[in-house]
Amino acid sequence: MPTIDDYLAQHAADFEDDLCQLLRIASVSADSRHRADVRRAADWLVEQFRGLKMPVELCETPGHPIVYAEWLGAPGAPTALVYGHYDVQPPDPLDEWISPPFEPTRRDGNLYARGATDDKGQMLTHVKSAQAWMQTAGRLPINLKFLIEGEEEVGSENLEQFIAANRQRLACDVVVISDTSQFAPEQPAITYGLRGIAYFELRLTGPKQDLHSGTFGGGVMNPANALTQMLAALINSRGQIQVPGFYDDVEPLTDAERRQFAKLAFNENEFCGELGIAAAAGETGFSTLERRWARPTFDINGLWSGYQGEGSKTVLPARAGAKFSFRLVPRQDPKKIHAALEAMLKRLLPLGVSMELLAYHGAPGVVVPLDSPYVKAAARAIERGFGRAPVYIREGGSIPVVSTFRQQLGVDTLLLGWGLNDDNTHSPNEKFCLADYHRGIKASAHLWEEINRG
Ligand code: BES
Ligand code: ZN
Repeated sequence: MPTIDDYLAQHAADFEDDLCQLLRIASVSADSRHRADVRRAADWLVEQFRGLKMPVELCETPGHPIVYAEWLGAPGAPTALVYGHYDVQPPDPLDEWISPPFEPTRRDGNLYARGATDDKGQMLTHVKSAQAWMQTAGRLPINLKFLIEGEEEVGSENLEQFIAANRQRLACDVVVISDTSQFAPEQPAITYGLRGIAYFELRLTGPKQDLHSGTFGGGVMNPANALTQMLAALINSRGQIQVPGFYDDVEPLTDAERRQFAKLAFNENEFCGELGIAAAAGETGFSTLERRWARPTFDINGLWSGYQGEGSKTVLPARAGAKFSFRLVPRQDPKKIHAALEAMLKRLLPLGVSMELLAYHGAPGVVVPLDSPYVKAAARAIERGFGRAPVYIREGGSIPVVSTFRQQLGVDTLLLGWGLNDDNTHSPNEKFCLADYHRGIKASAHLWEEINRG
Protein backbone atom coordinates (compact mmCIF):
# COMPACT_ATOMS: atom_id res chain seq x y z
CA MET A 1 0.00 0.00 0.00
CA PRO A 2 1.52 3.39 -0.94
CA THR A 3 1.92 5.91 1.86
CA ILE A 4 -0.07 9.11 1.77
CA ASP A 5 2.99 11.09 0.71
CA ASP A 6 3.68 8.61 -2.13
CA TYR A 7 0.09 8.93 -3.28
CA LEU A 8 0.28 12.73 -3.27
CA ALA A 9 3.51 12.68 -5.29
CA GLN A 10 2.11 10.18 -7.81
CA HIS A 11 -1.13 12.07 -8.31
CA ALA A 12 0.14 15.65 -8.41
CA ALA A 13 -0.66 16.03 -12.11
CA ASP A 14 -4.18 14.58 -11.67
CA PHE A 15 -4.86 16.99 -8.82
CA GLU A 16 -3.95 19.91 -11.09
CA ASP A 17 -6.11 18.59 -13.91
CA ASP A 18 -9.07 18.27 -11.55
CA LEU A 19 -8.64 21.85 -10.35
CA CYS A 20 -8.50 23.02 -13.97
CA GLN A 21 -11.80 21.24 -14.68
CA LEU A 22 -13.49 23.09 -11.84
CA LEU A 23 -11.91 26.42 -12.84
CA ARG A 24 -13.34 26.10 -16.36
CA ILE A 25 -16.84 26.38 -14.89
CA ALA A 26 -17.80 30.08 -14.65
CA SER A 27 -19.65 29.84 -11.31
CA VAL A 28 -20.18 33.58 -10.80
CA SER A 29 -22.78 33.73 -8.03
CA ALA A 30 -23.55 37.46 -8.37
CA ASP A 31 -24.56 37.21 -12.04
CA SER A 32 -27.89 35.54 -12.83
CA ARG A 33 -26.67 34.78 -16.36
CA HIS A 34 -24.30 32.26 -14.75
CA ARG A 35 -26.95 30.46 -12.73
CA ALA A 36 -26.59 27.21 -14.68
CA ASP A 37 -22.78 27.41 -14.41
CA VAL A 38 -23.00 27.78 -10.65
CA ARG A 39 -25.06 24.59 -10.54
CA ARG A 40 -22.58 22.80 -12.82
CA ALA A 41 -19.81 23.55 -10.33
CA ALA A 42 -21.93 22.07 -7.53
CA ASP A 43 -22.65 18.99 -9.66
CA TRP A 44 -18.94 18.62 -10.40
CA LEU A 45 -18.21 18.53 -6.65
CA VAL A 46 -20.96 16.00 -6.05
CA GLU A 47 -19.24 13.72 -8.58
CA GLN A 48 -15.92 14.18 -6.77
CA PHE A 49 -17.41 12.92 -3.50
CA ARG A 50 -19.19 10.05 -5.29
CA GLY A 51 -15.76 9.03 -6.62
CA LEU A 52 -14.52 8.88 -3.02
CA LYS A 53 -17.51 6.78 -1.98
CA MET A 54 -18.48 9.53 0.45
CA PRO A 55 -22.23 9.96 0.94
CA VAL A 56 -23.07 13.29 -0.66
CA GLU A 57 -26.15 15.43 -1.19
CA LEU A 58 -26.91 18.43 -3.36
CA CYS A 59 -29.01 20.61 -1.04
CA GLU A 60 -31.31 23.13 -2.69
CA THR A 61 -31.70 26.63 -1.23
CA PRO A 62 -33.72 29.63 -2.48
CA GLY A 63 -30.44 30.64 -4.16
CA HIS A 64 -27.51 28.49 -5.24
CA PRO A 65 -27.22 24.89 -3.98
CA ILE A 66 -25.06 23.68 -1.09
CA VAL A 67 -22.96 20.53 -1.43
CA TYR A 68 -22.86 18.41 1.71
CA ALA A 69 -20.77 15.23 2.06
CA GLU A 70 -19.70 13.20 5.07
CA TRP A 71 -17.62 10.21 6.05
CA LEU A 72 -18.38 8.99 9.56
CA GLY A 73 -16.38 5.78 9.72
CA ALA A 74 -14.21 6.66 12.73
CA PRO A 75 -16.54 6.35 15.74
CA GLY A 76 -14.95 7.75 18.87
CA ALA A 77 -12.52 9.92 16.88
CA PRO A 78 -13.05 13.69 16.51
CA THR A 79 -15.18 15.15 13.72
CA ALA A 80 -13.99 18.03 11.56
CA LEU A 81 -16.22 20.06 9.24
CA VAL A 82 -14.59 21.56 6.16
CA TYR A 83 -16.31 24.67 4.85
CA GLY A 84 -15.49 26.17 1.47
CA HIS A 85 -17.14 27.91 -1.46
CA TYR A 86 -17.34 26.95 -5.12
CA ASP A 87 -18.71 30.30 -6.31
CA VAL A 88 -16.44 33.05 -7.60
CA GLN A 89 -16.43 36.82 -8.04
CA PRO A 90 -17.28 38.35 -11.42
CA PRO A 91 -14.17 38.38 -13.65
CA ASP A 92 -14.38 41.95 -14.95
CA PRO A 93 -12.55 44.04 -16.11
CA LEU A 94 -12.04 41.33 -18.74
CA ASP A 95 -9.55 43.18 -20.91
CA GLU A 96 -7.02 43.25 -18.07
CA TRP A 97 -6.65 39.46 -17.96
CA ILE A 98 -3.52 38.09 -19.64
CA SER A 99 -5.27 34.76 -20.22
CA PRO A 100 -9.07 34.40 -20.11
CA PRO A 101 -10.50 34.02 -16.59
CA PHE A 102 -12.19 30.68 -17.21
CA GLU A 103 -9.37 29.12 -19.22
CA PRO A 104 -6.93 28.08 -16.46
CA THR A 105 -3.38 28.74 -17.65
CA ARG A 106 -0.03 27.81 -16.08
CA ARG A 107 2.63 30.54 -15.97
CA ASP A 108 5.76 30.65 -13.75
CA GLY A 109 4.55 27.95 -11.39
CA ASN A 110 1.15 29.60 -10.93
CA LEU A 111 -2.27 28.63 -12.20
CA TYR A 112 -4.20 31.69 -13.44
CA ALA A 113 -8.01 31.69 -13.42
CA ARG A 114 -10.92 33.30 -11.56
CA GLY A 115 -11.37 31.26 -8.37
CA ALA A 116 -7.89 29.68 -8.54
CA THR A 117 -7.16 30.65 -4.94
CA ASP A 118 -10.57 32.07 -3.84
CA ASP A 119 -11.74 29.48 -3.16
CA LYS A 120 -11.74 26.60 -5.62
CA GLY A 121 -8.05 25.76 -5.34
CA GLN A 122 -7.87 26.14 -1.58
CA MET A 123 -11.14 24.29 -0.98
CA LEU A 124 -10.10 21.44 -3.26
CA THR A 125 -6.95 20.77 -1.19
CA HIS A 126 -9.21 19.18 1.44
CA VAL A 127 -11.17 17.13 -1.09
CA LYS A 128 -7.90 15.84 -2.56
CA SER A 129 -6.46 15.03 0.87
CA ALA A 130 -9.59 13.02 1.64
CA GLN A 131 -9.11 11.28 -1.70
CA ALA A 132 -5.51 10.39 -0.77
CA TRP A 133 -6.66 8.78 2.49
CA MET A 134 -9.59 6.94 0.94
CA GLN A 135 -7.50 5.58 -1.95
CA THR A 136 -4.60 4.43 0.22
CA ALA A 137 -5.88 3.51 3.68
CA GLY A 138 -9.51 3.09 2.57
CA ARG A 139 -10.49 5.33 5.45
CA LEU A 140 -9.81 8.66 7.15
CA PRO A 141 -8.21 9.08 10.60
CA ILE A 142 -11.19 11.16 11.81
CA ASN A 143 -14.79 11.76 10.81
CA LEU A 144 -15.03 14.37 8.12
CA LYS A 145 -17.91 16.54 6.89
CA PHE A 146 -17.82 18.89 3.91
CA LEU A 147 -20.11 21.91 3.56
CA ILE A 148 -19.40 23.73 0.33
CA GLU A 149 -21.63 26.61 -0.65
CA GLY A 150 -22.23 28.66 -3.78
CA GLU A 151 -23.11 32.05 -2.29
CA GLU A 152 -20.10 33.12 -0.24
CA GLU A 153 -19.18 35.91 -2.61
CA VAL A 154 -22.68 37.37 -2.33
CA GLY A 155 -22.90 37.30 1.45
CA SER A 156 -23.94 33.68 2.21
CA GLU A 157 -27.61 34.69 2.21
CA ASN A 158 -29.07 31.20 2.59
CA LEU A 159 -26.36 29.48 4.55
CA GLU A 160 -27.35 30.56 8.05
CA GLN A 161 -30.83 29.11 7.57
CA PHE A 162 -29.33 25.84 6.27
CA ILE A 163 -26.98 25.56 9.24
CA ALA A 164 -29.76 26.35 11.72
CA ALA A 165 -31.97 23.67 10.14
CA ASN A 166 -29.18 21.04 10.10
CA ARG A 167 -27.46 21.47 13.45
CA GLN A 168 -27.43 17.74 14.29
CA ARG A 169 -26.11 16.74 10.94
CA LEU A 170 -23.38 19.40 10.98
CA ALA A 171 -22.32 18.75 14.59
CA CYS A 172 -18.53 18.65 14.83
CA ASP A 173 -15.56 19.36 17.08
CA VAL A 174 -13.84 21.87 14.84
CA VAL A 175 -14.37 23.68 11.54
CA VAL A 176 -11.58 23.95 8.96
CA ILE A 177 -11.57 26.70 6.33
CA SER A 178 -8.90 27.38 3.74
CA ASP A 179 -9.97 30.71 2.24
CA THR A 180 -7.33 33.05 3.64
CA SER A 181 -3.64 33.71 2.97
CA GLN A 182 -0.17 32.86 4.13
CA PHE A 183 1.70 35.76 5.71
CA ALA A 184 4.23 35.78 2.84
CA PRO A 185 5.63 33.36 0.25
CA GLU A 186 7.07 30.33 2.11
CA GLN A 187 5.70 31.71 5.38
CA PRO A 188 2.47 29.87 6.18
CA ALA A 189 0.10 31.30 8.77
CA ILE A 190 -2.80 30.42 10.98
CA THR A 191 -5.30 33.28 10.89
CA TYR A 192 -7.04 33.91 14.21
CA GLY A 193 -9.10 36.97 13.33
CA LEU A 194 -11.18 38.25 10.42
CA ARG A 195 -13.05 41.50 9.99
CA GLY A 196 -16.80 41.67 9.55
CA ILE A 197 -18.63 43.78 7.02
CA ALA A 198 -21.64 46.04 6.52
CA TYR A 199 -22.37 46.79 2.86
CA PHE A 200 -24.67 49.52 1.48
CA GLU A 201 -25.88 51.23 -1.63
CA LEU A 202 -26.97 54.87 -1.58
CA ARG A 203 -29.12 56.23 -4.42
CA LEU A 204 -29.87 59.93 -4.80
CA THR A 205 -32.47 61.39 -7.12
CA GLY A 206 -32.79 65.07 -8.05
CA PRO A 207 -34.70 66.60 -10.98
CA LYS A 208 -36.96 64.41 -13.11
CA GLN A 209 -34.33 64.27 -15.90
CA ASP A 210 -30.77 65.40 -16.70
CA LEU A 211 -30.54 69.18 -17.10
CA HIS A 212 -28.31 71.76 -18.82
CA SER A 213 -25.77 72.68 -16.13
CA GLY A 214 -25.57 76.26 -17.41
CA THR A 215 -29.28 76.94 -17.47
CA PHE A 216 -30.03 75.22 -14.17
CA GLY A 217 -26.70 74.84 -12.32
CA GLY A 218 -26.61 76.82 -9.08
CA GLY A 219 -30.39 76.84 -8.80
CA VAL A 220 -30.96 73.09 -8.59
CA MET A 221 -29.21 70.67 -6.20
CA ASN A 222 -26.95 68.39 -8.22
CA PRO A 223 -27.27 64.78 -6.94
CA ALA A 224 -23.61 64.10 -7.75
CA ASN A 225 -22.54 67.09 -5.64
CA ALA A 226 -24.87 65.95 -2.87
CA LEU A 227 -23.53 62.40 -3.01
CA THR A 228 -19.88 63.40 -2.82
CA GLN A 229 -20.58 65.74 0.11
CA MET A 230 -22.48 63.07 1.98
CA LEU A 231 -19.84 60.38 1.40
CA ALA A 232 -17.03 62.74 2.33
CA ALA A 233 -18.74 63.44 5.64
CA LEU A 234 -18.53 59.75 6.60
CA ILE A 235 -14.76 59.83 7.19
CA ASN A 236 -12.39 62.58 8.26
CA SER A 237 -8.85 63.35 7.12
CA ARG A 238 -7.42 61.27 9.98
CA GLY A 239 -9.18 58.19 8.60
CA GLN A 240 -11.74 58.18 11.42
CA ILE A 241 -15.30 57.18 10.62
CA GLN A 242 -17.82 59.85 11.55
CA VAL A 243 -20.99 57.77 11.90
CA PRO A 244 -22.19 58.50 15.46
CA GLY A 245 -21.41 55.65 17.84
CA PHE A 246 -19.37 53.81 15.23
CA TYR A 247 -16.47 53.10 17.61
CA ASP A 248 -18.58 52.46 20.72
CA ASP A 249 -18.15 48.69 20.64
CA VAL A 250 -14.62 48.60 19.22
CA GLU A 251 -12.20 47.02 21.63
CA PRO A 252 -8.78 48.69 21.65
CA LEU A 253 -5.86 46.58 20.48
CA THR A 254 -3.86 45.27 23.42
CA ASP A 255 -0.20 46.19 23.74
CA ALA A 256 0.66 42.50 23.57
CA GLU A 257 -1.11 42.11 20.24
CA ARG A 258 0.41 45.28 18.84
CA ARG A 259 3.85 43.92 19.77
CA GLN A 260 2.98 40.59 18.09
CA PHE A 261 2.04 42.38 14.87
CA ALA A 262 5.16 44.54 15.02
CA LYS A 263 7.35 41.43 15.28
CA LEU A 264 6.11 40.06 11.97
CA ALA A 265 8.50 40.63 9.09
CA PHE A 266 6.36 43.19 7.28
CA ASN A 267 8.16 45.53 4.92
CA GLU A 268 6.15 48.66 4.19
CA ASN A 269 8.27 49.72 1.22
CA GLU A 270 7.87 46.35 -0.46
CA PHE A 271 4.15 46.47 0.29
CA CYS A 272 3.83 49.86 -1.42
CA GLY A 273 6.04 48.77 -4.31
CA GLU A 274 3.95 45.69 -5.03
CA LEU A 275 0.74 47.72 -5.09
CA GLY A 276 2.15 50.60 -7.14
CA ILE A 277 1.40 53.23 -4.47
CA ALA A 278 3.73 55.94 -3.17
CA ALA A 279 2.69 55.57 0.46
CA ALA A 280 0.42 53.54 2.70
CA ALA A 281 -2.60 55.36 4.16
CA GLY A 282 -5.20 54.96 6.85
CA GLU A 283 -6.30 55.78 10.35
CA THR A 284 -3.86 57.99 12.25
CA GLY A 285 -2.02 56.27 15.08
CA PHE A 286 -2.05 52.73 13.70
CA SER A 287 0.44 50.65 11.73
CA THR A 288 -0.43 49.23 8.32
CA LEU A 289 -1.02 45.72 9.70
CA GLU A 290 -3.18 47.11 12.50
CA ARG A 291 -5.20 49.17 10.02
CA ARG A 292 -5.72 46.21 7.68
CA TRP A 293 -6.40 43.49 10.25
CA ALA A 294 -7.80 44.95 13.41
CA ARG A 295 -9.32 48.39 12.78
CA PRO A 296 -12.68 49.15 11.14
CA THR A 297 -12.70 50.95 7.81
CA PHE A 298 -14.88 52.69 5.24
CA ASP A 299 -14.42 52.11 1.51
CA ILE A 300 -16.40 53.24 -1.50
CA ASN A 301 -16.74 50.19 -3.74
CA GLY A 302 -18.50 51.81 -6.68
CA LEU A 303 -19.56 55.32 -7.66
CA TRP A 304 -21.60 56.56 -10.59
CA SER A 305 -23.33 59.64 -11.94
CA GLY A 306 -23.33 61.94 -14.93
CA TYR A 307 -21.45 61.77 -18.17
CA GLN A 308 -18.84 59.02 -18.59
CA GLY A 309 -18.34 59.19 -22.37
CA GLU A 310 -15.63 60.78 -24.50
CA GLY A 311 -14.93 64.50 -24.17
CA SER A 312 -17.04 66.82 -22.04
CA LYS A 313 -20.75 67.30 -21.56
CA THR A 314 -22.19 70.13 -19.47
CA VAL A 315 -24.89 68.19 -17.71
CA LEU A 316 -26.50 68.34 -14.29
CA PRO A 317 -27.29 64.66 -13.75
CA ALA A 318 -30.66 63.61 -12.41
CA ARG A 319 -29.27 60.73 -10.38
CA ALA A 320 -26.17 59.62 -8.51
CA GLY A 321 -25.31 56.51 -6.56
CA ALA A 322 -22.60 54.68 -4.66
CA LYS A 323 -21.90 51.28 -3.19
CA PHE A 324 -19.78 51.37 -0.06
CA SER A 325 -18.91 49.18 2.87
CA PHE A 326 -17.49 49.25 6.35
CA ARG A 327 -15.15 46.51 7.51
CA LEU A 328 -15.92 45.77 11.15
CA VAL A 329 -14.00 44.36 14.09
CA PRO A 330 -15.39 41.94 16.69
CA ARG A 331 -18.29 43.27 18.81
CA GLN A 332 -19.39 45.85 16.24
CA ASP A 333 -22.95 45.08 15.19
CA PRO A 334 -23.77 45.57 11.48
CA LYS A 335 -27.45 46.29 12.30
CA LYS A 336 -26.57 49.01 14.78
CA ILE A 337 -24.26 50.58 12.23
CA HIS A 338 -26.99 50.46 9.58
CA ALA A 339 -29.38 52.36 11.85
CA ALA A 340 -26.80 55.01 12.80
CA LEU A 341 -25.71 55.43 9.19
CA GLU A 342 -29.25 55.86 7.91
CA ALA A 343 -30.02 58.53 10.50
CA MET A 344 -26.80 60.38 9.67
CA LEU A 345 -27.37 60.30 5.90
CA LYS A 346 -30.91 61.62 6.35
CA ARG A 347 -29.51 64.54 8.33
CA LEU A 348 -26.89 65.21 5.66
CA LEU A 349 -29.31 65.00 2.73
CA PRO A 350 -29.60 68.45 1.11
CA LEU A 351 -32.97 69.87 0.09
CA GLY A 352 -33.94 69.09 -3.48
CA VAL A 353 -32.77 65.47 -3.63
CA SER A 354 -34.27 62.29 -2.24
CA MET A 355 -32.36 59.25 -1.01
CA GLU A 356 -32.74 55.51 -0.83
CA LEU A 357 -30.35 53.45 1.30
CA LEU A 358 -30.13 49.72 0.58
CA ALA A 359 -28.40 47.41 3.05
CA TYR A 360 -26.75 44.36 1.56
CA HIS A 361 -24.93 41.73 3.57
CA GLY A 362 -23.66 42.25 7.07
CA ALA A 363 -21.45 40.01 9.20
CA PRO A 364 -19.63 40.52 12.49
CA GLY A 365 -15.85 40.28 12.80
CA VAL A 366 -14.33 37.30 14.60
CA VAL A 367 -11.35 36.34 16.71
CA VAL A 368 -10.81 32.64 17.42
CA PRO A 369 -8.87 31.26 20.40
CA LEU A 370 -5.32 30.03 19.80
CA ASP A 371 -4.99 27.90 22.93
CA SER A 372 -6.73 24.80 21.60
CA PRO A 373 -5.40 21.33 20.74
CA TYR A 374 -6.80 21.83 17.24
CA VAL A 375 -4.60 24.87 16.65
CA LYS A 376 -1.59 22.86 17.82
CA ALA A 377 -2.55 19.99 15.52
CA ALA A 378 -2.93 22.45 12.62
CA ALA A 379 0.48 23.97 13.33
CA ARG A 380 2.10 20.49 13.19
CA ALA A 381 0.26 19.63 9.98
CA ILE A 382 1.31 22.91 8.35
CA GLU A 383 4.91 22.28 9.32
CA ARG A 384 4.73 18.89 7.63
CA GLY A 385 3.07 20.26 4.50
CA PHE A 386 5.04 23.48 4.10
CA GLY A 387 8.32 22.59 5.84
CA ARG A 388 7.95 25.64 8.06
CA ALA A 389 6.03 26.46 11.22
CA PRO A 390 3.14 28.92 10.80
CA VAL A 391 3.00 32.45 12.18
CA TYR A 392 -0.22 33.69 13.79
CA ILE A 393 -1.96 36.57 12.05
CA ARG A 394 -5.26 38.35 11.64
CA GLU A 395 -6.63 39.32 8.23
CA GLY A 396 -8.89 42.03 6.91
CA GLY A 397 -11.32 40.06 4.74
CA SER A 398 -14.59 38.53 5.88
CA ILE A 399 -15.98 35.00 5.98
CA PRO A 400 -19.49 35.51 7.37
CA VAL A 401 -20.05 31.88 8.30
CA VAL A 402 -17.30 31.78 10.94
CA SER A 403 -19.47 33.58 13.48
CA THR A 404 -22.48 31.48 12.46
CA PHE A 405 -20.56 28.29 13.27
CA ARG A 406 -19.78 29.63 16.74
CA GLN A 407 -23.40 30.66 17.36
CA GLN A 408 -25.21 27.70 15.83
CA LEU A 409 -22.79 24.80 16.41
CA GLY A 410 -20.76 26.15 19.33
CA VAL A 411 -17.46 25.43 17.60
CA ASP A 412 -14.40 27.40 16.60
CA THR A 413 -12.81 27.55 13.18
CA LEU A 414 -9.27 26.87 12.03
CA LEU A 415 -8.46 29.39 9.29
CA LEU A 416 -5.66 27.71 7.38
CA GLY A 417 -4.93 29.80 4.32
CA TRP A 418 -2.76 28.56 1.49
CA GLY A 419 -3.11 31.72 -0.64
CA LEU A 420 -0.77 34.69 -1.01
CA ASN A 421 -1.50 38.40 -0.73
CA ASP A 422 -0.53 38.90 -4.38
CA ASP A 423 -2.94 36.22 -5.68
CA ASN A 424 -5.16 38.98 -7.14
CA THR A 425 -8.36 37.78 -5.49
CA HIS A 426 -11.42 39.68 -6.76
CA SER A 427 -9.23 41.33 -9.41
CA PRO A 428 -7.83 40.51 -12.85
CA ASN A 429 -5.26 37.69 -13.21
CA GLU A 430 -6.20 35.81 -10.06
CA LYS A 431 -3.73 33.00 -9.48
CA PHE A 432 -2.81 30.19 -7.11
CA CYS A 433 0.79 29.03 -6.69
CA LEU A 434 0.79 25.36 -7.71
CA ALA A 435 3.45 24.50 -5.12
CA ASP A 436 1.11 25.93 -2.46
CA TYR A 437 -1.75 23.85 -3.85
CA HIS A 438 0.31 20.69 -3.32
CA ARG A 439 1.68 21.83 0.04
CA GLY A 440 -1.88 22.62 1.09
CA ILE A 441 -3.05 19.12 0.11
CA LYS A 442 -0.18 17.63 2.10
CA ALA A 443 -0.86 19.78 5.16
CA SER A 444 -4.53 18.85 4.96
CA ALA A 445 -3.76 15.14 4.67
CA HIS A 446 -1.62 15.36 7.80
CA LEU A 447 -4.14 17.54 9.60
CA TRP A 448 -6.66 14.70 9.87
CA GLU A 449 -4.01 12.53 11.46
CA GLU A 450 -2.76 15.28 13.77
CA ILE A 451 -6.28 16.11 14.94
CA ASN A 452 -6.75 12.45 15.83
CA ARG A 453 -3.48 12.46 17.77
CA GLY A 454 -4.91 15.32 19.86
N1 BES B 1 -11.57 34.57 0.77
C1 BES B 1 -12.30 35.75 1.07
C2 BES B 1 -12.17 36.21 2.52
C3 BES B 1 -10.82 36.79 2.88
C4 BES B 1 -10.25 37.77 2.09
C5 BES B 1 -10.20 36.39 4.01
C6 BES B 1 -9.04 38.31 2.44
C7 BES B 1 -8.99 36.92 4.37
C8 BES B 1 -8.40 37.89 3.58
C9 BES B 1 -13.77 35.54 0.81
O1 BES B 1 -14.03 34.74 -0.29
C10 BES B 1 -14.38 36.90 0.53
O2 BES B 1 -13.97 37.56 -0.37
N2 BES B 1 -15.34 37.29 1.33
C11 BES B 1 -16.05 38.50 1.12
C12 BES B 1 -17.24 38.42 2.02
C13 BES B 1 -18.35 39.36 1.69
C14 BES B 1 -18.87 39.18 0.30
C15 BES B 1 -19.46 39.17 2.70
C16 BES B 1 -15.21 39.71 1.46
O3 BES B 1 -14.39 39.68 2.39
O4 BES B 1 -15.37 40.72 0.77
ZN1 ZN C 1 -13.68 36.23 -2.16
